[in-house]
Amino acid sequence: LQVGIVLGGVAPEHEVSVITALQAAAALDRDRYTPVPIYVAKDGTWYTGDALLEVEAYRDLDALREDALPVALAPTPYGHLELLEDRAPGILKRLQRPALRRRIDVMLLGLHGGPGENGGVQGLCETFNVPYTSAGVFGSALGMDKVMSKRVCRQAGIPVVDFVALREGEWAGREAAALDECEATLDYPLVVKPARCGSSIGIAQVNTRAELDAAIEDALRYDDKVVVEKAVEALREINCSVLGDGHEATPSVLEEPVPSDDDAVLTFQDKYMREDGEAAKAEGGTKSAESSPEGMAAQDRIVPANLSDERTETIQDLAVRIFHQFECAGVVRIDFMIDESTGRVYFNEINTIPGSFSFYLWEPSGVSFDALVDRLVTIARR
Ligand code: DAL
Ligand code: MG
Repeated sequence: LQVGIVLGGVAPEHEVSVITALQAAAALDRDRYTPVPIYVAKDGTWYTGDALLEVEAYRDLDALREDALPVALAPTPYGHLELLEDRAPGILKRLQRPALRRRIDVMLLGLHGGPGENGGVQGLCETFNVPYTSAGVFGSALGMDKVMSKRVCRQAGIPVVDFVALREGEWAGREAAALDECEATLDYPLVVKPARCGSSIGIAQVNTRAELDAAIEDALRYDDKVVVEKAVEALREINCSVLGDGHEATPSVLEEPVPSDDDAVLTFQDKYMREDGEAAKAEGGTKSAESSPEGMAAQDRIVPANLSDERTETIQDLAVRIFHQFECAGVVRIDFMIDESTGRVYFNEINTIPGSFSFYLWEPSGVSFDALVDRLVTIARR
């Protein structure tokens, strides 16, 4: 079976995606599957080439594009895709001389953010009738949108913090009124997020109107919709992965990510950057120089999180309910917030293509990374 491993992408989470996908490629059982790497460059061009599988961390990708070939995707009537080498640019020449064809039977989507996780690439696979390893178009689109996600959870009786959604059109030119609305609805401190980003990009916690103003401006650089939410002050973040298909779903153990300083919000730095490359390697990342992104393996976390059995089960039950509400498939990671002053648990967000496929949350229950990837391919082909 030829497994297309899709990495990179046009979203700001490009580098993180390269790490996730290459980790998954390394975990793929080579006796049963042949990995076909497909690199989506930041400009949206698709490349293939086995050299892509040899990349260390993410740093050599620019150089590797020279070893890789730009490809066009071609549908076939047989439920698989073909990659057509784009040696001679131009559609006519390509049709006349398809020099290289590589069959793809199933797409292992290692993309984070943007069209790779929001249903875009999933729709492409649907259109071409090719199985793929993530939630469908609907769940992907819903999960990527923090405003819609909260609305769906609230409707289903799953607690979310109070929030205000703002579109760019409701902001530009009427900033004062928009700030008034936020301040009338929510008390500081607040957290401002782009509605459809990941990896903490564009997120800020604010305490004053001036800070709120600046944070909204900043978040609007990443998305034309932002969400302003009530910050949880006595915050503990707790994440749970769920693995399943449309029928059954299993929750993982819980993790508590540990921020590197007192900030309430984990930064991109906290999530992926490690000063000490060796520690990251010990947790399963690939070796690299200091301070280079190591993916989810680099993050400090407590696994399993130190919570009572009762609280653990409450969160696992919520996670499974959310998985079904969002009509997910494959592996997801759902992030919760606990307010330690009240004990309340809130849904924060869902990642329908979680960093490193959350393999580190499955290993404690005896599911190896290899078995996880195998499961994802099996679910995709069902
Ligand atoms: N969006 C990143 C990769 C995550 O939260 O897992
Ligand atoms: Mg996220």
